[in-house]
Amino acid sequence: MLGTPRVSSPPATGAAKSPAMPAPALSRRAGLAQGQPISQLMHMALERPELISLAAGFVDQETLPVEETREAAQWLLSQPEPGRAALQYGTTAGFLPLRERVLAEWQAADGHPHALRGISADRVVLTAGSNQLLHLLADTLCDPGDIVLCAAPTYFVFIGLAANLGVRTVGVATDGEGLIPEALDEQLAAFDKSGELARVKAIYVNSFFDNPASITLSRDRRPQVVEIARRWSRRRPIFVIEDAAYRQLRYEGESFPSLLAFDDGGGTVIATQTFSKSFSPGLRVGYGILPAPLVEPLLAQKGNIDFGSPNFNQQLAWALYERGLLERHVGKLRETYRAKRDAMLKAAETHLAPLGCRWRVPRGGLYVWLTLPEGIDADIGRPLYEESLRQGVLYVPGHFCYAREGFPVQKSNIRLSFGVQPAERIAEGIAALAAALRRRLEDVPACVGRSPDGGDPALECAVEPLAPRRAK
Ligand SMILES: Cc1ncc(COP(=O)(O)O)c(C=O)c1O
Repeated sequence: MLGTPRVSSPPATGAAKSPAMPAPALSRRAGLAQGQPISQLMHMALERPELISLAAGFVDQETLPVEETREAAQWLLSQPEPGRAALQYGTTAGFLPLRERVLAEWQAADGHPHALRGISADRVVLTAGSNQLLHLLADTLCDPGDIVLCAAPTYFVFIGLAANLGVRTVGVATDGEGLIPEALDEQLAAFDKSGELARVKAIYVNSFFDNPASITLSRDRRPQVVEIARRWSRRRPIFVIEDAAYRQLRYEGESFPSLLAFDDGGGTVIATQTFSKSFSPGLRVGYGILPAPLVEPLLAQKGNIDFGSPNFNQQLAWALYERGLLERHVGKLRETYRAKRDAMLKAAETHLAPLGCRWRVPRGGLYVWLTLPEGIDADIGRPLYEESLRQGVLYVPGHFCYAREGFPVQKSNIRLSFGVQPAERIAEGIAALAAALRRRLEDVPACVGRSPDGGDPALECAVEPLAPRRAK
């Protein structure tokens, strides 16, 4: 019957039910995809709008730059060049004037042009947000079973995308200055000893105001991390993926050069950046500055996916620079977020500090990383989480932010975002969280101070690795 067209008629009323379709035979990779844990929380926030969500790392809705976008789009479309061409397909690597521009901006921010000598726009790739780039990088560098080292805690979306590719993520200890170089060195030595060094493909670092802990890798540690990656690149290179998503959101303190600025030969650091935090996540424009040998392989992957990210959006981003709109907007964002950070810290000082919570003051970024009293498990479904929902507040349980291997998963931390909610709601949310925690402490006062193997299976006590963090 090959080639004979078959016309199906509607089933007659009362006809026997067709047999149930078997479950789709998905690829191995689809089987590995577990979705991002944050999706569940976002779903919850949508379903229950009365909840104060301190969970999502979204940017402030009120500051989304409608006027700036309109001005840039109008200007762009009125230009003889590129003008109309912005609506055409672009190249896989992306719009060249924007690639040149972001490279120049990166160099200016580093104040370190010598180290970047030799890096040209040929090594810049534009992607649909930096997340696409992180995925492409993991896919281009790693086979299933390969290893990426990352800070503990780290950006949980990266952990998820790596797992989806069968890539192992291994957590390395951090402190207030970020990734601890000695711990990184030790972990690499351990892999050398176990014969797995050749499987280590990269070290993933959030270099400015990281997600989730808002810690910035210190000035001194930057060259050390690059040096360690190079020293252990024995048979195969170990790259440093420098994710600088929050670099522009600095509210105070000194600015440091990027890790890329310390990569003299230009062969170790892959820098990634995004317009999502500094302008608009809806624009979906991110970029990477890559070591030369990685550019072609990565573009070959990307070409098969989309032969170039949205050209119009890239040209719009370029127009923002041309019209001076981006810088102006970032200035406004810094003011807004600084005030919201202060509101969160003030409320935390009032409500959470007396309950024994600790944190570091974030000098930038969007997050406060809260350490709860020892023994309180913040995971979904545990009493604190459930009580917080009853009190009307949503947070990200910290354990999402730990890689599956290496440094032990900590359950007594939560990530709070001050990005989305206005200052009054932030204060209400913190008060609600404190009410939930107070209840929890009243219910099980014995949990506080208990050792990690304290015996009560209802309490999975945390091992607190960090020096005391107290807001000044
Ligand atoms: C550390 C970090 N990197 C990358 C991203 C990805 O952002 P986008 O894909 O919007 O550029 C985010 C988003 O929250 C992030 O927090």
